Amino acid sequence: MPNNHLYDHDIVSIKDFTKQDLEFIFRSTDKISTLRPNEKSELGKGRTLGYIFYEPSTRTRMSFEAAMASLGGSSIGIFDPKSSSIEKGESLADTIRIIDLYSDVIILRHPLDGSSRFAGELSRNPIINAGSGSEEHPTQAMLDLYTMLKEKKKINNLTIGIVGDLKYGRTVYSLLYALANYNVEVHLISPSILGIRKESIYDIRKKLKLYEHSQLEDILPKLDVIYVTRIQRERFPDIQEYEKVKGTYTIDNNILTKAKPDVSIMHPMPRMEEISHSIDDTNNAIYFKQAAYGKELRAALLALVLNENPI
Ligand code: NCD
Repeated sequence: MPNNHLYDHDIVSIKDFTKQDLEFIFRSTDKISTLRPNEKSELGKGRTLGYIFYEPSTRTRMSFEAAMASLGGSSIGIFDPKSSSIEKGESLADTIRIIDLYSDVIILRHPLDGSSRFAGELSRNPIINAGSGSEEHPTQAMLDLYTMLKEKKKINNLTIGIVGDLKYGRTVYSLLYALANYNVEVHLISPSILGIRKESIYDIRKKLKLYEHSQLEDILPKLDVIYVTRIQRERFPDIQEYEKVKGTYTIDNNILTKAKPDVSIMHPMPRMEEISHSIDDTNNAIYFKQAAYGKELRAALLALVLNENPI
């Protein structure tokens, strides 16, 4: 294995990772997920993961906790800020300083862009960004690419449609930056008021073959992967604008009949009405597998951050 650049480092932005880094993480995930339980549980033995979620989370928090448990470590944290001193007015900075005293790696989700970068400057131990505002969700992008690699057996030469809330969905930005390392064609499909923030993809606009559409049907037959996102109701400054666009796209059996037979439907989840439950049992629906890969990939990230030579 090449040098482990992740050891004792923050994971704040997908922009800090080269293609080599990503492939190293994917290979490490393959290796660590096939270790025997007694070998795996050496990688986090006696170590503590500390988490703070200022926004709701199901998969990200639980997969990190489950991953840490599989490495033999333990987790402590705050997932309900109302039950902590944050409710009394304690600052993010002080909260980070305290959790830094009690843990070896910190997982942070916060509504502000830049929050993880800021936390990383304060803490002694590595910070992992579990979602910062509408800016980034780097570990989600890593698990999204890992899912493509496992399920489509490649990333290069895929034609990928990204559908839904491209304005506020942070997973979309991290995904686009990660995909910019590969030779892929990306079709962005959204209502016009939820189009991509051009300034946020400025650095990669020349690296990616990017096309914008408002109708999914226009491009549907070409897509190998449809990455569906939730309309981010909580990030709308005006709820009436949300009401106008909610339910714009729904992936259902009718959509599948017009798509490639082996199209894969992905979603970072939680899904709302944008994916019909009626397709859950099709081979095209891979969003639950994607969530499962999340635990494996995050176990590898924790092993790499906590150990100089985990494998
Ligand atoms: C996403 C998030 O928090 O950005 N959730 C997740 O971590 N899988 C997506 C979302 O909330 O829509």
